[in-house]
Amino acid sequence: MSKLTLLFILSVTSIAFVKAGINVTNIDGCPALTPRASPVSVHDLRVDDIKVVGALGDSITAGFGILSIDKSDPSLVNMLDVFKEYRGLSYSIGGEKGAFTIPNYVKHYQPNVTGYSVGVHLAESCNDQPNQDMLNAAQSGAVAKNLDHEVNYLLERIRSIEGIDFQNDWKMINIQIGSNDMCGACNTTFMNEVTPEKFGNYVEAAVEKIQKNIPRALVNLIGTFNVSQIFPLTFNQSYCGFTSNISSQTNIQECPCAATSEGLKKMTELSTAYNKELFAIYEKYEKDKLTNFTVVYQQSNLNFSGFPVDFFSNLDCFHPGIKGHQWVSKVIWNQLFSPQALKPKVFNFQENATIYCPVDSDRIATD
Ligand SMILES: *[C@@H]1O[C@H](CO)[C@@H](O)[C@H](O)[C@H]1NC(C)=O
Ligand SMILES: *[C@@H]1O[C@H](CO)[C@@H](O)[C@H](O)[C@H]1NC(C)=O
Ligand SMILES: *[C@@H]1O[C@H](CO)[C@@H](O)[C@H](O)[C@H]1NC(C)=O
Ligand SMILES: *[C@@H]1O[C@H](CO)[C@@H](O)[C@H](O)[C@H]1NC(C)=O
Ligand SMILES: *[C@@H]1O[C@H](CO)[C@@H](O)[C@H](O)[C@H]1NC(C)=O
Ligand SMILES: *[C@@H]1O[C@H](CO)[C@@H](O)[C@H](O)[C@H]1NC(C)=O
Ligand SMILES: *[C@@H]1O[C@H](CO)[C@@H](O)[C@H](O)[C@H]1NC(C)=O
Ligand SMILES: *[C@@H]1O[C@H](CO)[C@@H](O)[C@H](O)[C@H]1NC(C)=O
Ligand SMILES: *[C@@H]1O[C@H](CO)[C@@H](O)[C@H](O)[C@H]1NC(C)=O
Repeated sequence: MSKLTLLFILSVTSIAFVKAGINVTNIDGCPALTPRASPVSVHDLRVDDIKVVGALGDSITAGFGILSIDKSDPSLVNMLDVFKEYRGLSYSIGGEKGAFTIPNYVKHYQPNVTGYSVGVHLAESCNDQPNQDMLNAAQSGAVAKNLDHEVNYLLERIRSIEGIDFQNDWKMINIQIGSNDMCGACNTTFMNEVTPEKFGNYVEAAVEKIQKNIPRALVNLIGTFNVSQIFPLTFNQSYCGFTSNISSQTNIQECPCAATSEGLKKMTELSTAYNKELFAIYEKYEKDKLTNFTVVYQQSNLNFSGFPVDFFSNLDCFHPGIKGHQWVSKVIWNQLFSPQALKPKVFNFQENATIYCPVDSDRIATD
């Protein structure tokens, strides 16, 4: 191969990866796509081809605590108001009007998209999901083992929602799980359930069940957050209502493994190991190149150590608050259009992160 040919190939390759679209602060500023017929391959999907969205996950996806009490005014504390799931604002599956969420970004391009959750209600029990939850199957407190139950909910609900062409509509199922698995890793009666191998098996089983039962689905696996980094950040923060008394720190009460430095180390290792398992599931389907089903993987290494503390909800400084959900929605959305090799490997917080506007030639990257 001549030097010139090599140069040519290199430059063509890099040109092909330059993103053509603009970046905006609100999805309303994104130009429309030119309408086209629905594609026949999952590897040819544009966002406007997505007609149905669904999600599996834990309290993050359920929207727990997104808009919480204002600790600076204790008179606002209303315990009944505290244990709420703001499912309409959840970054991966919320569809409240104007909210910064993936379904709302899809909706900008595909007004008929359905499946997103709306509204707010008290944290619920897993066999009693109101209609407004739609295809948000997430459960507060869930671990990977519970995904099977969540997939069953999804399978039942997806058939009962009007306007879905179950056979032919392209569906995007967002999955993020793992925080509670990490937090339980120091509990001797529970630790054997949260090994990387078991975690991977549970997620893979859920993905397979979706493949077998839901035609034309794109499963969007979102990596775990590096939860161990939250605790040094929130220590002694008045925003969280925390003092220097660690045993009164509510996020450690919710995540008992974070109480010791060995526990934090274990959680850090698990986050990395879980992400390897998720990546392996993506790689397996990537190789298969099926026409009607695939799995994509989004990087999620949020470098929390430099984040503003109000990224988290002041309810417990553990769950992301509204700022966190809005920001994560952009980070995950923007990655959808990048091939795996070009996705950022670490995310540092930027106050004014923008939203990428895909153009006609952009596809949801499956490679
Ligand atoms: C938009 O952001 C992407 C990175 O996500 C970048 O590659 C692209 O150049 C930006 N587009 C413009 C027009 O600035
Ligand atoms: C949305 O659904 C309506 C009614 O089925 C249909 O007429 C319209 O073309 C659809 N819009 C898009 C963008 O698919
Ligand atoms: C893909 O799905 C469509 C719609 O359900 C179906 O008609 C087609 O046969 C499927 N293709 C393959 C290769 O399974
Ligand atoms: C340990 O896990 C078991 C089983 O999930 C649970 O019942 C128990 O409350 C946990 N113990 C602690 C200290 O969190
Ligand atoms: C996760 O956080 C820990 C500190 O708690 C840090 O040492 C580690 O490098 C982080 N992991 C990644 C993948 O950045
Ligand atoms: C905790 O915060 C208070 C008030 O901001 C400060 O006076 C104190 O030194 C801090 N304590 C520790 C151990 O960082
Ligand atoms: C620290 O917090 C724990 C739990 O709220 C409480 O029992 C304990 O008395 C506190 N210690 C101090 C020194 O205030
Ligand atoms: C993570 O954030 C810290 C604090 O802002 C910064 O010093 C460090 O360089 C960041 N790490 C990476 C890999 O970006
Ligand atoms: C972010 O946007 C706000 C409002 O548009 C502006 O006031 C602020 O200066 C911007 N911050 C940065 C870091 O660009």
